[in-house]
Amino acid sequence: MCGIVGVIGREDAPQVLLQGLQKLEYRGYDSAGIYTAGAGSARLVKAVGKIAALAQAIGPDVTGTMGIGHTRWATNGRPTEANAHPHVSADGRFYLVHNGVITNAAALRATYLSDVTFASETDTEVVVQLIAHFAQGGLTAHDAFVKTLGLLEGSYAFCLADRDDSAVLYAAKNKSPLLIGKGDGFNLVASDALAMIELTDQFLELNDGEVVTLMASQVQIEDLAGQQIDRAPITVTIDAAEADKGPYPFYMLKEINEQPIVMRRLLAAYTKADGQVEMPAALLSALAAADRLYIVAAGTSYHAGLIGKPLFESLAYVPVEVHLASEFGYHLPLLSAHPLFIFLTQSGETADIREVLVKVKKMGAPTLTITNVVTSTLAREADHVLALHAGPEIAVASTKAYTAQVAVEALLAKALGDFKGTEAATKFDVTHWLSMAAAGQQTLIDQQARLHELATTLFAGQDRAFYIGRGSDHAVSLEAALKLKEISYVHAEGFAAGELKHGTIALIEPGTPTVAFVTDPLTAARTRSNAEEVAARGGHVAIIATSDLAEVGDDLVVPAIEPRLTPLVAIVAGQLLAYFTSLDRGYDVDRPRNLAKSVTVE
Ligand code: F6R
Repeated sequence: MCGIVGVIGREDAPQVLLQGLQKLEYRGYDSAGIYTAGAGSARLVKAVGKIAALAQAIGPDVTGTMGIGHTRWATNGRPTEANAHPHVSADGRFYLVHNGVITNAAALRATYLSDVTFASETDTEVVVQLIAHFAQGGLTAHDAFVKTLGLLEGSYAFCLADRDDSAVLYAAKNKSPLLIGKGDGFNLVASDALAMIELTDQFLELNDGEVVTLMASQVQIEDLAGQQIDRAPITVTIDAAEADKGPYPFYMLKEINEQPIVMRRLLAAYTKADGQVEMPAALLSALAAADRLYIVAAGTSYHAGLIGKPLFESLAYVPVEVHLASEFGYHLPLLSAHPLFIFLTQSGETADIREVLVKVKKMGAPTLTITNVVTSTLAREADHVLALHAGPEIAVASTKAYTAQVAVEALLAKALGDFKGTEAATKFDVTHWLSMAAAGQQTLIDQQARLHELATTLFAGQDRAFYIGRGSDHAVSLEAALKLKEISYVHAEGFAAGELKHGTIALIEPGTPTVAFVTDPLTAARTRSNAEEVAARGGHVAIIATSDLAEVGDDLVVPAIEPRLTPLVAIVAGQLLAYFTSLDRGYDVDRPRNLAKSVTVE
């Protein structure tokens, strides 16, 4: 959903922009560009494709002490060089990068800019032309920017450069993420701290409706009415090495490998020396006061929510509904009298979830965000926050954040059950089971060669596939299918095993790959029968079973742990099957087509 970066006060501005964009590439990668200026020089460089293409286009002659940069995930307008940012006003004075969508761009263009010739199809160009329009009318750059912001509807994070004054940059945000990085003699602005963390650990958080003026040695924040805002910097510690690929060919493989470490990190973060789970008292009180929990999420995080439901219901005796944020935001179900909303989100920036958060906060309902990015919008705006401690997740396909979400749900459900004094929670040794999950994940990670072989046998030359299972295995099937779809472009579906025979089995042809998860003692026999039904129609069935339920001839045996937590282990097989299928097909595993990591448009 686009990433933006700005710098002022650095002799190596083009390199700072490029490095920042490389760290933001997970946000979109169909085109990129920078504008940089200083000491009489000013250059605009754009390229279609990934940041590597932009890096090639930036020759040694491109220098500057300030600049702005952008990596794009197309929303308005196709991914062409003309539509790539920065956009420039027709008079050549203003350069603008933008993350978000301006919903009234067409109306603004018709009202103010009917005589302006446009170079692109983007909403962003309307904004930069509007700033120039007001500056031509006599306003200063700052005032023209503020006046334009006052007219905009939609979402934005902007960074604006003025050709006539290379000692200053302007920035503003509404709904889209933006952070200031404070350096010694220089300042930065970017969509994510990751883009700046190698240069500073001091950050200023920004709120919607704030405008920033950045100079090399000063940062001024004000609201749209011109009221100055004093804000102390926060220290953000991200281990820069964690955001590196290290010896791995792809981030996704690195992140799959990190899952056992993340399990142990979560145990360290949320348990005391005696093994008891420790959660904030105010959060537990709020949860205990709720008569129903609503888990709201998207994509992979939604699948993690499905695993959380039985955990909360069985350990804390509270009913749970799990909803897709994009549906929930506009079609609210009949809510219980005392709901509490849990937002599961790796990025903490998903626009569909923010829409829900804003609505339910207006209703006065308590909210909890469980996220990997504690500086994110959804973390800051919810009443309570729990961190996923997964470390930066760079690959677009989420892996370690998913298992971290399931683990945090288990820890929280156990803590809530203990707080309420339920018998089920007393019997649930979450510390033990999460340690076992970490060991189980490692066992699968160590069987990569087998999983690669299985991926090739099952999916080579195939363009569709099924994952089936019951209960939590169904939820795991949905997630395993999503992984396969998004990085290997195989049309995969996750199905409740018993549901296939009610229609979908008509799609099974000789050789159709179908992976059955068998990890739940209660339904193992039934799922095996459903797999048999597929095999009887010529489908190519692979069974992934836990060691306690495995039978001779099964394709992969997964260490057995407490059935409600088996997804933490079983999904590693799904992740690796998808990874190797994408690898075999020669795709860019980390940056699948059409996608972006942080989805900040609705
Ligand atoms: C798939 C994936 C997406 C995200 C979804 C929600 O691998 O990563 O489906 O899970 O876009 O994103 P977050 O969790 O950041 O809210």
